[in-house]
Amino acid sequence: MKNNVSVEAIEEILRDYFPKTCDKVTQAMEYSLFSGGKRIRPMLLLETAKAVGGRINEGAKIMAAALEYVHTYSLIHDDLPCMDNDDLRRGKRSCHMQYGEASAVLAGDALLNLAAETVLEGPLANKKYLAACKYLFNMSGINGMVHGQSLDLFTETKTVDDANAVALHKTGDLIRASIVCGALCGGASDEEVKIFDEIASKLGVCYQVIDDMLDSEKCEKSFLDVMSERALKEYASKLTYEIKELTARLPYDTSYLEEIADKNLVRNK
Ligand code: IPE
Ligand code: IPE
Ligand code: MG
Ligand code: MG
Ligand code: MG
Repeated sequence: MKNNVSVEAIEEILRDYFPKTCDKVTQAMEYSLFSGGKRIRPMLLLETAKAVGGRINEGAKIMAAALEYVHTYSLIHDDLPCMDNDDLRRGKRSCHMQYGEASAVLAGDALLNLAAETVLEGPLANKKYLAACKYLFNMSGINGMVHGQSLDLFTETKTVDDANAVALHKTGDLIRASIVCGALCGGASDEEVKIFDEIASKLGVCYQVIDDMLDSEKCEKSFLDVMSERALKEYASKLTYEIKELTARLPYDTSYLEEIADKNLVRNK
Protein backbone atom coordinates (compact mmCIF):
# COMPACT_ATOMS: atom_id res chain seq x y z
CA MET A 1 0.00 0.00 0.00
CA LYS A 2 1.28 3.46 -0.88
CA ASN A 3 1.92 5.65 2.20
CA ASN A 4 -0.36 3.46 4.26
CA VAL A 5 -0.98 4.05 7.93
CA SER A 6 1.43 1.86 9.93
CA VAL A 7 0.54 -0.43 12.81
CA GLU A 8 2.97 1.63 14.95
CA ALA A 9 1.10 4.86 14.17
CA ILE A 10 -2.18 3.17 15.11
CA GLU A 11 -0.70 1.92 18.39
CA GLU A 12 0.39 5.46 19.22
CA ILE A 13 -3.20 6.62 18.75
CA LEU A 14 -4.42 3.76 20.98
CA ARG A 15 -1.95 4.92 23.67
CA ASP A 16 -3.10 8.54 23.40
CA TYR A 17 -6.58 7.75 24.71
CA PHE A 18 -5.64 4.91 27.06
CA PRO A 19 -6.22 5.65 30.78
CA LYS A 20 -3.34 6.47 33.12
CA THR A 21 -4.71 4.26 35.91
CA CYS A 22 -2.52 1.35 36.97
CA ASP A 23 -4.69 -1.22 38.76
CA LYS A 24 -5.12 -4.88 37.83
CA VAL A 25 -8.00 -4.26 35.42
CA THR A 26 -6.01 -1.58 33.57
CA GLN A 27 -3.17 -4.10 33.24
CA ALA A 28 -5.59 -6.66 31.80
CA MET A 29 -6.92 -4.07 29.32
CA GLU A 30 -3.41 -3.13 28.27
CA TYR A 31 -2.36 -6.77 27.97
CA SER A 32 -5.11 -7.50 25.45
CA LEU A 33 -4.94 -4.18 23.64
CA PHE A 34 -1.19 -4.39 22.94
CA SER A 35 -0.65 -8.05 22.16
CA GLY A 36 -0.11 -8.18 18.44
CA GLY A 37 -3.48 -7.36 16.89
CA LYS A 38 -3.37 -6.80 13.15
CA ARG A 39 -5.30 -3.50 13.56
CA ILE A 40 -7.35 -4.08 10.44
CA ARG A 41 -10.32 -2.07 11.73
CA PRO A 42 -8.48 1.17 12.62
CA MET A 43 -6.48 0.74 9.42
CA LEU A 44 -9.68 0.56 7.35
CA LEU A 45 -11.15 3.52 9.19
CA LEU A 46 -8.09 5.76 8.80
CA GLU A 47 -7.42 4.79 5.19
CA THR A 48 -11.06 5.38 4.26
CA ALA A 49 -11.06 8.79 5.96
CA LYS A 50 -7.88 9.65 4.06
CA ALA A 51 -9.20 8.38 0.71
CA VAL A 52 -12.38 10.43 1.05
CA GLY A 53 -11.14 13.57 2.81
CA GLY A 54 -7.54 13.75 1.61
CA ARG A 55 -6.10 13.57 5.12
CA ILE A 56 -6.59 11.89 8.49
CA ASN A 57 -8.37 14.32 10.80
CA GLU A 58 -8.64 14.22 14.60
CA GLY A 59 -12.16 12.79 14.50
CA ALA A 60 -10.97 9.81 12.46
CA LYS A 61 -8.11 9.14 14.90
CA ILE A 62 -10.49 9.23 17.84
CA MET A 63 -12.95 6.90 16.12
CA ALA A 64 -10.15 4.51 15.15
CA ALA A 65 -9.03 4.24 18.78
CA ALA A 66 -12.60 3.75 20.01
CA LEU A 67 -13.26 1.06 17.44
CA GLU A 68 -10.18 -0.94 18.40
CA TYR A 69 -11.17 -0.65 22.07
CA VAL A 70 -14.58 -2.14 21.20
CA HIS A 71 -12.94 -4.89 19.11
CA THR A 72 -10.54 -5.76 21.96
CA TYR A 73 -13.38 -5.95 24.47
CA SER A 74 -15.27 -8.26 22.11
CA LEU A 75 -12.27 -10.59 21.90
CA ILE A 76 -11.69 -10.67 25.68
CA HIS A 77 -15.31 -11.64 26.26
CA ASP A 78 -15.36 -14.01 23.26
CA ASP A 79 -12.55 -16.06 24.85
CA LEU A 80 -14.22 -16.41 28.26
CA PRO A 81 -15.16 -19.91 29.47
CA CYS A 82 -18.86 -19.04 29.14
CA MET A 83 -18.36 -18.17 25.47
CA ASP A 84 -15.67 -19.84 23.28
CA ASN A 85 -13.54 -20.96 26.24
CA ASP A 86 -10.28 -20.20 24.47
CA ASP A 87 -7.07 -20.37 26.51
CA LEU A 88 -5.07 -18.67 23.79
CA ARG A 89 -5.43 -15.43 21.86
CA ARG A 90 -2.84 -14.47 19.23
CA GLY A 91 -0.65 -17.34 20.46
CA LYS A 92 -0.54 -15.97 24.01
CA ARG A 93 -2.59 -16.69 27.13
CA SER A 94 -6.02 -15.13 26.74
CA CYS A 95 -6.94 -12.30 29.10
CA HIS A 96 -8.84 -14.45 31.62
CA MET A 97 -6.03 -17.06 31.69
CA GLN A 98 -3.52 -14.32 32.51
CA TYR A 99 -5.59 -12.15 34.88
CA GLY A 100 -8.54 -14.29 35.96
CA GLU A 101 -12.15 -14.22 34.81
CA ALA A 102 -13.31 -11.32 36.96
CA SER A 103 -10.55 -9.04 35.68
CA ALA A 104 -11.22 -10.11 32.09
CA VAL A 105 -14.94 -9.31 32.40
CA LEU A 106 -14.12 -5.91 33.91
CA ALA A 107 -11.40 -5.21 31.34
CA GLY A 108 -13.96 -5.81 28.57
CA ASP A 109 -16.52 -3.59 30.31
CA ALA A 110 -13.95 -0.85 30.80
CA LEU A 111 -12.79 -0.96 27.17
CA LEU A 112 -16.36 -0.53 25.94
CA ASN A 113 -16.80 2.38 28.35
CA LEU A 114 -13.46 3.83 27.25
CA ALA A 115 -14.67 3.76 23.64
CA ALA A 116 -17.65 5.92 24.63
CA GLU A 117 -15.49 8.31 26.66
CA THR A 118 -13.05 8.58 23.76
CA VAL A 119 -15.57 9.46 21.04
CA LEU A 120 -16.99 12.16 23.31
CA GLU A 121 -13.59 13.92 23.05
CA GLY A 122 -14.24 14.46 19.33
CA PRO A 123 -15.88 17.21 17.24
CA LEU A 124 -19.47 16.53 18.32
CA ALA A 125 -20.81 19.64 16.59
CA ASN A 126 -19.87 18.06 13.26
CA LYS A 127 -22.99 16.21 12.06
CA LYS A 128 -21.09 13.55 10.12
CA TYR A 129 -18.83 12.85 13.10
CA LEU A 130 -21.88 12.46 15.31
CA ALA A 131 -23.45 10.10 12.75
CA ALA A 132 -20.22 8.07 12.85
CA CYS A 133 -20.41 7.84 16.67
CA LYS A 134 -23.98 6.59 16.46
CA TYR A 135 -23.05 4.07 13.79
CA LEU A 136 -20.12 2.72 15.80
CA PHE A 137 -22.23 2.03 18.86
CA ASN A 138 -25.15 0.76 16.83
CA MET A 139 -22.88 -1.73 15.04
CA SER A 140 -21.32 -2.79 18.36
CA GLY A 141 -24.51 -3.57 20.23
CA ILE A 142 -27.65 -5.64 20.08
CA ASN A 143 -28.33 -4.54 16.49
CA GLY A 144 -24.75 -5.40 15.56
CA MET A 145 -21.83 -7.42 16.93
CA VAL A 146 -23.55 -8.50 20.15
CA HIS A 147 -26.47 -9.80 18.09
CA GLY A 148 -23.96 -11.76 15.98
CA GLN A 149 -22.43 -13.29 19.09
CA SER A 150 -25.93 -14.21 20.23
CA LEU A 151 -26.68 -15.92 16.90
CA ASP A 152 -23.30 -17.68 17.11
CA LEU A 153 -23.92 -19.03 20.61
CA PHE A 154 -27.64 -19.66 20.69
CA THR A 155 -28.88 -20.63 17.21
CA GLU A 156 -28.32 -23.55 14.90
CA THR A 157 -26.49 -23.03 11.61
CA LYS A 158 -28.20 -25.25 9.10
CA THR A 159 -27.90 -23.28 5.88
CA VAL A 160 -25.49 -20.96 4.12
CA ASP A 161 -27.90 -18.11 4.90
CA ASP A 162 -27.63 -18.92 8.62
CA ALA A 163 -23.83 -18.86 8.44
CA ASN A 164 -23.90 -15.59 6.50
CA ALA A 165 -26.13 -13.98 9.13
CA VAL A 166 -23.77 -14.95 11.96
CA ALA A 167 -20.73 -13.67 10.06
CA LEU A 168 -22.41 -10.48 8.91
CA HIS A 169 -23.20 -9.50 12.47
CA LYS A 170 -20.47 -10.93 14.71
CA THR A 171 -17.65 -9.80 12.41
CA GLY A 172 -19.17 -7.82 9.56
CA ASP A 173 -20.79 -5.17 11.70
CA LEU A 174 -17.52 -3.92 13.22
CA ILE A 175 -15.92 -3.97 9.76
CA ARG A 176 -18.92 -1.94 8.55
CA ALA A 177 -18.35 0.49 11.41
CA SER A 178 -14.67 0.77 10.41
CA ILE A 179 -15.30 1.71 6.81
CA VAL A 180 -18.51 3.72 7.24
CA CYS A 181 -17.11 5.75 10.17
CA GLY A 182 -14.00 6.45 8.09
CA ALA A 183 -16.13 7.56 5.16
CA LEU A 184 -18.24 9.81 7.41
CA CYS A 185 -15.17 11.34 9.09
CA GLY A 186 -13.78 12.06 5.63
CA GLY A 187 -17.04 13.79 4.66
CA ALA A 188 -18.52 11.26 2.20
CA SER A 189 -22.02 11.82 0.80
CA ASP A 190 -24.95 9.62 1.84
CA GLU A 191 -24.85 7.86 -1.53
CA GLU A 192 -21.12 7.11 -1.16
CA VAL A 193 -21.58 5.94 2.44
CA LYS A 194 -24.12 3.40 1.15
CA ILE A 195 -21.61 1.97 -1.32
CA PHE A 196 -18.89 1.86 1.34
CA ASP A 197 -21.31 0.03 3.61
CA GLU A 198 -22.08 -2.56 0.95
CA ILE A 199 -18.37 -3.11 0.39
CA ALA A 200 -17.79 -3.43 4.14
CA SER A 201 -20.55 -6.03 4.55
CA LYS A 202 -18.96 -8.21 1.89
CA LEU A 203 -15.48 -7.71 3.34
CA GLY A 204 -16.76 -8.53 6.82
CA VAL A 205 -18.35 -11.79 5.73
CA CYS A 206 -15.27 -12.66 3.69
CA TYR A 207 -13.05 -11.92 6.71
CA GLN A 208 -15.05 -14.44 8.76
CA VAL A 209 -14.96 -17.02 5.94
CA ILE A 210 -11.16 -16.94 6.12
CA ASP A 211 -11.21 -16.92 9.94
CA ASP A 212 -13.34 -20.08 9.91
CA MET A 213 -10.95 -21.79 7.50
CA LEU A 214 -8.00 -20.81 9.73
CA ASP A 215 -9.93 -22.12 12.76
CA SER A 216 -11.00 -25.38 11.09
CA GLU A 217 -9.60 -27.41 13.99
CA LYS A 218 -11.77 -25.65 16.58
CA CYS A 219 -15.11 -27.29 17.37
CA GLU A 220 -17.09 -24.11 16.85
CA LYS A 221 -19.91 -22.97 14.62
CA SER A 222 -18.38 -22.33 11.23
CA PHE A 223 -19.00 -21.81 7.52
CA LEU A 224 -17.43 -25.27 7.21
CA ASP A 225 -20.63 -26.72 8.74
CA VAL A 226 -22.54 -25.73 5.60
CA MET A 227 -19.91 -25.55 2.81
CA SER A 228 -16.90 -27.56 1.73
CA GLU A 229 -13.47 -25.93 1.95
CA ARG A 230 -13.33 -25.73 -1.81
CA ALA A 231 -16.73 -24.07 -2.07
CA LEU A 232 -15.72 -21.65 0.68
CA LYS A 233 -12.57 -20.61 -1.19
CA GLU A 234 -14.68 -19.91 -4.27
CA TYR A 235 -17.16 -17.96 -2.17
CA ALA A 236 -14.36 -15.82 -0.71
CA SER A 237 -13.02 -15.09 -4.21
CA LYS A 238 -16.49 -14.18 -5.43
CA LEU A 239 -17.02 -11.75 -2.53
CA THR A 240 -13.62 -10.17 -3.22
CA TYR A 241 -14.52 -9.76 -6.89
CA GLU A 242 -17.81 -8.10 -5.91
CA ILE A 243 -15.93 -5.75 -3.56
CA LYS A 244 -13.83 -4.58 -6.51
CA GLU A 245 -16.92 -4.05 -8.67
CA LEU A 246 -18.28 -1.79 -5.94
CA THR A 247 -15.07 0.17 -5.31
CA ALA A 248 -15.05 1.02 -9.03
CA ARG A 249 -18.24 3.00 -8.42
CA LEU A 250 -16.55 5.33 -5.93
CA PRO A 251 -14.79 8.54 -7.03
CA TYR A 252 -11.80 7.91 -4.73
CA ASP A 253 -8.52 6.02 -4.78
CA THR A 254 -9.68 2.81 -3.11
CA SER A 255 -6.59 0.75 -3.90
CA TYR A 256 -6.03 0.29 -0.13
CA LEU A 257 -9.41 -1.47 0.09
CA GLU A 258 -8.73 -3.73 -2.86
CA GLU A 259 -5.33 -4.58 -1.38
CA ILE A 260 -6.77 -5.38 2.05
CA ALA A 261 -9.46 -7.55 0.40
CA ASP A 262 -6.81 -9.42 -1.64
CA LYS A 263 -4.54 -9.88 1.39
CA ASN A 264 -7.44 -11.31 3.38
CA LEU A 265 -7.70 -14.20 0.91
CA VAL A 266 -4.14 -15.34 1.62
CA ARG A 267 -3.69 -14.40 5.27
CA ASN A 268 -2.45 -17.04 7.70
CA LYS A 269 -3.48 -15.38 10.99
C1 IPE B 1 -10.55 -11.78 15.12
O1 IPE B 1 -10.36 -10.53 14.53
C2 IPE B 1 -11.99 -12.00 15.40
C3 IPE B 1 -12.85 -11.94 14.24
C4 IPE B 1 -13.85 -11.13 14.20
C5 IPE B 1 -12.66 -12.85 13.13
P1 IPE B 1 -8.94 -10.12 13.95
O2 IPE B 1 -8.46 -11.16 12.98
O3 IPE B 1 -9.01 -8.74 13.43
O4 IPE B 1 -8.04 -10.17 15.24
P2 IPE B 1 -6.71 -9.41 15.66
O5 IPE B 1 -7.16 -8.22 16.44
O6 IPE B 1 -5.93 -9.03 14.44
O7 IPE B 1 -5.98 -10.40 16.50
C1 IPE C 1 -15.29 -13.58 17.01
O1 IPE C 1 -15.53 -14.67 16.22
C2 IPE C 1 -16.26 -12.49 16.82
C3 IPE C 1 -16.15 -11.51 17.90
C4 IPE C 1 -15.28 -11.52 18.84
C5 IPE C 1 -17.13 -10.47 17.91
P1 IPE C 1 -14.62 -15.95 16.55
O2 IPE C 1 -14.96 -16.51 17.87
O3 IPE C 1 -14.65 -16.83 15.37
O4 IPE C 1 -13.19 -15.23 16.63
P2 IPE C 1 -11.85 -15.93 17.09
O5 IPE C 1 -11.67 -17.11 16.17
O6 IPE C 1 -12.03 -16.34 18.52
O7 IPE C 1 -10.80 -14.87 16.89
MG1 MG D 1 -16.70 -16.62 19.02
MG1 MG E 1 -13.62 -17.11 19.42
MG1 MG F 1 -12.83 -17.94 14.80
